[in-house]
Amino acid sequence: MTEFKKAYDAHLEEFQKNAHIKGMEAYQRLYRESLESPDTFWARQADHYLTWYKKWDTVLDYDFSEARIQWFGGGRLNASFNCLDRHLETREEAVAYYWEGDDTARAQAYTYGELYRRVNRFAAALRHKGVKKGDRVIIYLPMIIELPVAMLACARIGAVHSVVFGGFSAEAIANRINDCGAKVVITADGGFRSGKPVALKKNVDEALKKCPAVKTVIVVNHVDSGIFLTPGLEHWWHELIALPGLADEVEPEPMDAEDPLFILYTSGSTGKPKGVVHTHGGYLLYAAMTMEYVFDLHPGDIFWCTADIGWITGHSYILYGALVNGATSVMFEGVPSYPDFDRFWAIVEKYRVNKFYTAPTAIRSLAREGEAHVKKHDLSSLMLLGTVGEPINPEAWRWYHHHIGRDWCPVIDTWWQTETGGHMLTPLPGVAPVKPGSCAFPFFGIDPVIIDDAGEPVKHPDEEGLLCIRKPWPGMARTVFGDHERFISTYFSQAPGMYFTGDAARKDEDGYFWIIGRIDDVINVSGHRLGTAELESALVLHPHVAEAAVVGFPHAIKGQGIYAFVILKTGREPSDALKKELVAQVRREIGPIATIDVVQWAEGLPKTRSGKIMRRILKKIAANKLDELGDTSTIADESVIEKLIKDKVDVSK
Ligand code: PRX
Repeated sequence: MTEFKKAYDAHLEEFQKNAHIKGMEAYQRLYRESLESPDTFWARQADHYLTWYKKWDTVLDYDFSEARIQWFGGGRLNASFNCLDRHLETREEAVAYYWEGDDTARAQAYTYGELYRRVNRFAAALRHKGVKKGDRVIIYLPMIIELPVAMLACARIGAVHSVVFGGFSAEAIANRINDCGAKVVITADGGFRSGKPVALKKNVDEALKKCPAVKTVIVVNHVDSGIFLTPGLEHWWHELIALPGLADEVEPEPMDAEDPLFILYTSGSTGKPKGVVHTHGGYLLYAAMTMEYVFDLHPGDIFWCTADIGWITGHSYILYGALVNGATSVMFEGVPSYPDFDRFWAIVEKYRVNKFYTAPTAIRSLAREGEAHVKKHDLSSLMLLGTVGEPINPEAWRWYHHHIGRDWCPVIDTWWQTETGGHMLTPLPGVAPVKPGSCAFPFFGIDPVIIDDAGEPVKHPDEEGLLCIRKPWPGMARTVFGDHERFISTYFSQAPGMYFTGDAARKDEDGYFWIIGRIDDVINVSGHRLGTAELESALVLHPHVAEAAVVGFPHAIKGQGIYAFVILKTGREPSDALKKELVAQVRREIGPIATIDVVQWAEGLPKTRSGKIMRRILKKIAANKLDELGDTSTIADESVIEKLIKDKVDVSK
């Protein structure tokens, strides 16, 4: 501890003067209360952070065996009201978003008042198109102001939004539309990326061929591409909100605390992505509270989370958590490398960003370009640096701390998941020294435990095991849309009575948690989850492919890369052209984030006698850890392994 303390507590004294939680003792006191008296603790938070039309009857009612979780039952509120209306009196002129375009010349500030007016108008437009409480709406937009506006307008009228990240394919959009039964899709003609327009509407057109139930498509004219819309079905956003007779204001729909606010799809180890459901009450509270404590938010802060709103990080910390707190954020349309690799730092300087939240993959890709890009800019406004999405390797951590954080800013390594709604394990900046690569301590109300294979808590410090959570917290997902059984079997059956995270972790002797990574068949590429089953199904769709097995391997920038073992049908010959086709096929099925890095042609795969692919062995082969293959005695045909090793592709090249 002392070694870390000396090196990484530079910020502590300063933070302890003003932080919401000043020191370890204060943290422990509140943490104990949160676990020992959850009802009192959470009722106080719900009162403090949110405005309710009607207070709850019970704070918490749950039964993990059937994954029944209810927070603030009987309470009524509206997320859009909490993000907008209640700030009008004091913060109408305060900036909610400094929007920065992909093009450096395009930028605009949006105040809370402006956002309120836009959301109301669009909520009226949605109503006009027949959208009602409980209806699902798919949103497929770039990082432009219409994205938060559309989400909040849905929330305002009680519709359930499901945002699909702009990097997903037509096929992925169609699957999501059909899974959640959406009749309305909101999109744009295109987005900008590195100075070039990217077509979005085209993907929606393609998707809609498989989605006969969609009756309305609303299109933002963002890149001015001159596309034509299908009369009756498709409407320009700007025309719709200008319709005469449309109300300027729409009363927020009073929602039950447990009513769904949104569905967000995420990959799992089996089957298609799951629609994770979050609520108006518990989720909103948890996003708001973690936002304030973890980033130690104060009036005057300029916060920037670089995630896309299409991921949970953007939902919680660009949108809901930020707006409930009345914060001022930067919202960025572009990429870190355009026009040059200093773009992030130029934006930090331009807006005097003081709290900055990004992903290890972005840090690694910028570190690779050297310090000259950083030195061009004045980063002295920065006080706190966050990271999320994957374990951060010590080199990237140190680069971030040293070059961006002046050896002073705390690096807040936040561990959480789409399903958890908000931060779960994280340092708090005024509490204790940070350790590079550790996500430190549980947030209030979070009761983590590391269990061994027998389901018992591990006994010694640093013993690795499965990370589970013993008690419910308000931000946790309530179900998988349309498939509660899948919710139970994925999260509540591996360790009965607990929420199962899918991650392995250890806790050191100082009580700091260290995440090791997924133990299931999920690959974490640049902080984004991809299920091996999804990737394999996309590969076998190709007419020449007989079988495929996909694993992750360590990748210098992306964290994990995608390594595919492919068996061709008899009579089909491997070729570079076919490799290209397979890579393109998977990108088409899932989206550009699912770009396969390595294809190895195989004649057979290691399988157990019952026919299950032994991925454990394939992972070692892909990572070139041939001396760690472990026990291969259960394999049906051991000669397969020798052949795979002989043909392996060297990923270091
Ligand atoms: O494996 C963990 C990893 O990302 C997974 C969750 O992915 P997703 O639902 O896409 O949410 C990402 C953003 C919240 C986790 O199961 N992960 C996330 N944050 C960290 C992390 N691994 C290590 N350290 C983190 N800080």
